Amino acid sequence: TYVITEDCIRCKYTDCVEICPVDCFYEGPNMLVINPDECIDCGVCEPECPIGAIKPDNNEPDLQKWLEINRKYAKEWPKITKKIDPMPNAKEYDGVENKYEKFFE
Ligand code: F3S
Repeated sequence: TYVITEDCIRCKYTDCVEICPVDCFYEGPNMLVINPDECIDCGVCEPECPIGAIKPDNNEPDLQKWLEINRKYAKEWPKITKKIDPMPNAKEYDGVENKYEKFFE
């Protein structure tokens, strides 16, 4: 599966959602997640994200936290299949560290 990471928080560019052949993106207030049970591992979304927030699951311990966040919220948040405007201050939040602690909700 591919995993959306902390970089997406408060950016939410949504360039990734339309290219997905199985529509497995879900939208929360601050970020998107991928449903790991629906993702077919094609990888087409990874280069679509302008800030590199999408990573392949490579069993890296740090990424496992994000995999579980993606899994959990994909069950709670609505599906998104059409691109929308990025968050208002997306540019400002691009590359900010520790977004999870500061902004995840
Ligand atoms: Fe987020 Fe990048 Fe998609 S910022 S919404 S993972 S295009």
